[in-house]
Amino acid sequence: MAEELLRIEDVTISYPSRGWFTRSVPAVEGVSLTLGAGQTLGVVGESGSGKTTIARAVLRLLGCQSGRIWFKDHEVTAFKRVPKWYRREVQAIFQDPTASLNPAWTIEDIIAEPIRVHESNDASLIRSRVSELLTQVGLEPEMASRRPIAFSGGQRQRIGIARALASRPSLIVCDEPVSALDVSTQSTIVNLLNDVQRETGVAYLFIGHDLALMRHVSDRLAVVHHGRLVEEGPAEQVYSAPQQAYTADLLAATPSLDPHTRRRALAGPAERKTC
Ligand SMILES: Nc1ncnc2c1ncn2[C@@H]1O[C@H](COP(=O)(O)OP(=O)(O)O)[C@@H](O)[C@H]1O
Ligand SMILES: [Mg+2]
Repeated sequence: MAEELLRIEDVTISYPSRGWFTRSVPAVEGVSLTLGAGQTLGVVGESGSGKTTIARAVLRLLGCQSGRIWFKDHEVTAFKRVPKWYRREVQAIFQDPTASLNPAWTIEDIIAEPIRVHESNDASLIRSRVSELLTQVGLEPEMASRRPIAFSGGQRQRIGIARALASRPSLIVCDEPVSALDVSTQSTIVNLLNDVQRETGVAYLFIGHDLALMRHVSDRLAVVHHGRLVEEGPAEQVYSAPQQAYTADLLAATPSLDPHTRRRALAGPAERKTC
């Protein structure tokens, strides 16, 4: 069993209500999850189910109304200011790589920034780290002088992954990192993330809505609905033998390229449990 890296304990998060008479409904309510070092916890659910809110709380972009979040032995929810070490250890990649890359910067500037902040200002060290990181994500080191506009969506997501890896994090929060990509690019990026995990031992909190795809990246899967945890368990078990009707419905609603998987997804929950 991997050493525990992240623990979310009975967390409830509400956004401020928008009007005088509207009571704010929690976006996340009583959610508890754990993630081991070097492992992937997939969080899957429909749009609006609270996935991004969980991600923002872990990144400490949001506070919690109740409950606690722990990273290693540190209580993240108790930070008054987010310490620099936490920014280094916990990185993020987002759905829209275009919006998260500064269009005025070269790829080298983008990937070098976390190295400058967290490691060193030495120009030759930075240059060699940037080349190493570009190679690691399947891009040519010669591409470092170009700007994001010169790249496709999948290549931009590779750049986002290289930037996230630059500070040598132990956790990357991946908020729908492949949802904006076409299906064939989705699988190459998922494979890349799996390779990177094998090479570096980084853990992922991997958020998505496609249960069939999430199964390929996750060691454990958590299903959320209306801000609450519906089901959590080993990925293969949640996928093949969902215990909750909501998970089975989510699976049936997931289109899949693999005809075998698709057939199973479309079968009823009882039939799926026995196959
Ligand atoms: N900034 C915000 N202000 C108010 N409500 C929000 C805000 N962001 C999200 N919400 C609400 O919180 C709930 C969960 O949203 P979110 O965490 O973005 O879900 P998901 O990522 O699963 O689509 C939704 O009902 C959404 O409308
Ligand atoms: Mg979201």
